[in-house]
This record gives sequence, C-alpha cells and structure tokens, in this order.
Amino acid sequence: MTAQIIDGKAFAATVREKVAGHVARLKEENNVTPGLAVVLVGEDPASQVYVRSKGKQTVEVGMNSYEHKLDADTSEEDLLAVVNKLNNDPDVHGILVQLPLPDHLNEDLIINSIDPAKDVDGFHISNVGLLGTGQKSMVPCTPLGCLMMLRDHHGSLSGMDAVVIGRSNIVGKPMAQLLLGDSCTVTIAHSRTKDLPEVVRRADIVVAAVGRPEMVLGDWIKEGATVIDVGINRIERDGKNKLVGDVDFASASERAGAITPVPGGVGPMTIACLLANTVTACCRANGLAEPEGLTA
Ligand code: GUN
Repeated sequence: MTAQIIDGKAFAATVREKVAGHVARLKEENNVTPGLAVVLVGEDPASQVYVRSKGKQTVEVGMNSYEHKLDADTSEEDLLAVVNKLNNDPDVHGILVQLPLPDHLNEDLIINSIDPAKDVDGFHISNVGLLGTGQKSMVPCTPLGCLMMLRDHHGSLSGMDAVVIGRSNIVGKPMAQLLLGDSCTVTIAHSRTKDLPEVVRRADIVVAAVGRPEMVLGDWIKEGATVIDVGINRIERDGKNKLVGDVDFASASERAGAITPVPGGVGPMTIACLLANTVTACCRANGLAEPEGLTA
C-alpha cells in the first residue's frame, strides 16, 4: 500500500479561512475584534521565528496582534506584572507566553498566572484538568491540529486503537485525552515501553511525538494505519541540513493508509489552531456561539 499524504499545509489554510470568516462576522455583527498577545522573553532565535510567524498570521486573519518582547534578564515579578495586565485587558482574548523561558523563570508559575479563559495554549493547570475530565477547556494547539486532521480523514474515530508515542504535557498527554474523548482505545507509549514495535503494530492510529529523528520504522506500522508525525527534527544528511519527523517516512508510507509528511504535515496546523483557539476564547468571553469545527 502507498499511503495517502495528509496535507497539513492545505488543511491549515482551510482552518485559517474559517477563522478569518468568524473574525469578519465578529467585527461586523458584534463589533469585537479578537486579540492575541504573545510574550517573548529573551532572544532565542527559534522562538523569535515562531513569534514573528504567529504575529503575521494573526493579522492576516483580521485579528489584533500584541507583541511583548522582554529582555532575557526580566524578573519573575516583572513578567507576572505583564501577564496580569494582559489578563485584565478586555481587548486581549488570548495570551501566549512563548516557551522555553530563560532558566531563572519558573515556567509553571508563569503559565498558571494566565487567566485560564485566555490560555490559548491550553497549558494552564485548570485547562489540563478540564480536558482530563471531559469538560469544555482550551485545548493545546498541536494535539488539536492532529485531532482535526484525524476527524477529517476518518469521520468518526470511535472504537479505533490509537497509540500515542511520547508522554509530554504539551503533546502526548493531551493528545491521548482527545483521542479518548473521541472514543478511541488509547495507549500512551514512551521511552520505557516494552517492545514498542509490537505495541505500535496494534494501532489503527499512530501519533509520534518523541523528538527522535525517524525512530518509528515502516515495519512497526499496521497495514492501512493512519500515521500522524508530530516530530520536527533537524538532521544533517549527505552534507545537507534536512527536516525529518519521528517517523521514517519512506518505509512507513509503504504500509500506512495515510500519513502526514514533515515538513507540511502537523507543523502548519499548530499556529492555525492557535488562531482558532483565540476566536473561541473571544466568543466565550463575549457570550457568543462558538465557531463550529474549530474546537475539540
Ligand atoms: N514553544 C514552542 N512551541 C510552543 C507552543 O506551542 N506554545 C508556547 N507557549 N511556546 C512554544
């Protein structure tokens, strides 16, 4: 079998179009413009690229973008004051503090100081708890993007066997909760899992989020399974820099029914879902109907 390629770049464009439509309606009918504030501490080059991209896409869908760039030696007290100001700003519906933070700042403390209703990353402990108990929450963007692609491809996921490889708070754990919410039978595998290839061979859905280049091999994949590759790993091959996923695409695409490529798979969905979460947060803040198809 040669797998169907799930085109995350095209899918993300349709999500952004939907978001832009909702934003236009919110402006016209309700006189509100969704606003997303991004806080960047320090000068990490990768973070700067992400933040620039988030700001650009936010404006492209018609929302307001607020960027707060703070020095690398900003104190915890000063950062908390910035977050507090954004929490109390009615024009700001979403707040994202770019991670990683410099070592002297306590990430958990900062994230948990964000108003959960504005926590468009879905990292606040309240949102983690709400998701875990099947209640309405803000859902982390990357797993939400994976769920949207899976629902689009399969329709219902009910009863499917899903294996999530990786147990991070940002991807693995929330992904497992979302799949459980859609009535999959979910296994979370990780670095200590015994006989990982055999565990993966049972899966109708494989989500790989471990950060190890091309670790998941084709002969681990059940014939016809759907493979979602969250990994973005920079490697050098044949003297060239290359981006690869956590899945060995060449061999896995011979066995899978459908697979996301790297780049152009899950990656573009993350910011699209951040924009979707900001619209959702804006609707909730204003007591308006939530956009359909953009939430879990
Ligand atoms: N750094 C890399 N990805 C992310 C993300 O999704 N959210 C935040 N806040 N920081 C990140």
